[in-house]
Amino acid sequence: MTANEIREAFKSFFREQGHLIVPSAPMVVKDDPTLMFTNAGMNQFKDVILGNAEPKSRRQSDSQKCLRVSGKHNDLEEVGHDTYHHTMFEMLGNWSFGDYFKKEAITYAYEFLVGRLGIDPRNLYVTVFEGYAADGLARDDEAAGYWEQYFPQEHIINGNRHDNFWEMGDTGPCGPCSEIHIDIRPDEEKAKVSGASLVNKDHPQIIEIWNLVFMQYERRADGSLVPLPNKVIDTGMGFERLCAVMQGKRSNYDTDVFQPSMRKIG
Ligand code: SER
Repeated sequence: MTANEIREAFKSFFREQGHLIVPSAPMVVKDDPTLMFTNAGMNQFKDVILGNAEPKSRRQSDSQKCLRVSGKHNDLEEVGHDTYHHTMFEMLGNWSFGDYFKKEAITYAYEFLVGRLGIDPRNLYVTVFEGYAADGLARDDEAAGYWEQYFPQEHIINGNRHDNFWEMGDTGPCGPCSEIHIDIRPDEEKAKVSGASLVNKDHPQIIEIWNLVFMQYERRADGSLVPLPNKVIDTGMGFERLCAVMQGKRSNYDTDVFQPSMRKIG
């Protein structure tokens, strides 16, 4: 599949699930002094998530241009050193604003990757938030329970606050998340070392492709967590990573997202 076909497959899948497909927002954020550049698909929906505006539709989906040079989760140190982090990238996302929550978000993600794209689920690992006592948060057993319908226990991994509690910035909407990781190593390597032991260990062939955030809170300036008026699903999938997976490449730079420009420059 070409990159364009992959992007279209994502949008069609979520259109079929009743989502309104919306355009990417501009990368320079206006009217929000807490953020300079769009660093996630959810930025354009911040007012809706906080309950200050009505959504155009309770289900929306898009491909958002993001610039991750600032914000809480930027991974800037990795850019230029590895094959799968970028300063600018596209994030495929689906949102539910007070409509569906964890169960459907997990079902849609599995259905899209395995049912629609044909990815072998034996190569997928999922993480769930292990809890964080200082914020009074318990393990996300609910998400783990839904994943158990699709994966054996050894493919469901607990993750800490750094990896499994997503926050837009120091303040703003946030919540526990479940990440989907894929193991694209050759079979001989998989036989020697289990993929589960390499999740979130900076291995270039066991990478996160999709983050499902279950937004339930707003982080206030004093550090406290206040429940959101409506629960929100915010997912973000790394488009260039998905293209590498679908095109059988080891590096995002070898996909048709980058190759035509690189050849021309060359
Ligand atoms: N906001 C989450 C992220 O950026 C999911 O879209 O990873």
